[in-house]
Amino acid sequence: MVQPKTAETIFPVHEFIKQRWSPRSFSNEEIGAETLKTLFEAMSWAASARNEQPWRLIVGVKDKGVAYNKIFSCLDPWNQKWATAPVLAIIVAKKQIEGKQNPSYAYDCGAAMATLCLQAISQQIYVHQMGGIDTKKVLTSFQITESEYEVMAGVAIGKVGKVEDLDVYYQEMERATRKRKNLEEFVFGDNWGNPSSDIF
Ligand SMILES: Cc1cc2nc3c(=O)[nH]c(=O)nc-3n(C[C@H](O)[C@H](O)[C@H](O)COP(=O)(O)O)c2cc1C
Repeated sequence: MVQPKTAETIFPVHEFIKQRWSPRSFSNEEIGAETLKTLFEAMSWAASARNEQPWRLIVGVKDKGVAYNKIFSCLDPWNQKWATAPVLAIIVAKKQIEGKQNPSYAYDCGAAMATLCLQAISQQIYVHQMGGIDTKKVLTSFQITESEYEVMAGVAIGKVGKVEDLDVYYQEMERATRKRKNLEEFVFGDNWGNPSSDIF
């Protein structure tokens, strides 16, 4: 069974935001190069400090070149157990602008990946980001200069597969209810740590 995990929101939000979630079960359905280009195009239109666009993406398509297997070998074993999506990627950040540290590189990379995720869901494609990767191995495998770049996350991309195809342990996680903080826990006013009295 394919698992729909549409968010149950308190306030109305866009359908794509509700539909986006991070599956571990991916189907074998191929994601073509043209489709992938639309996701990367969307990513390129994210806002970034000084329009620096510090994100770089290593992409591997299953059963194509060698990139896929190289990326897969950099995932933590825990992620390798499920991350068999048709496309794997690694987002890498350029840390400097004109030889000086860019304070916004991580923030900007997150915005770019969020933009990619929303474009993807608009095409019924799902994205699962992974902090659980061997960043040192990524640097050496792809000959990336550590002083200039930081490995941010791994990314699995594809159509949702059947929950039953996952190991039982992951099936439970896949079926778990999605939860979020209440808005009062992160929307503050003049009293830090307390809900904004202008809003609530
Ligand atoms: C930066 C980042 C790192 C993550 N690392 C992992 C990971 O290593 N393994 C994993 O299974 N999920 C990972 N996730 C997925 C989160 O657990 C998931 O996004 C979160 O539980 C919220 O669920 P949702 O995306 O389905 O709404 C990561 C997500 C992000 C954004």
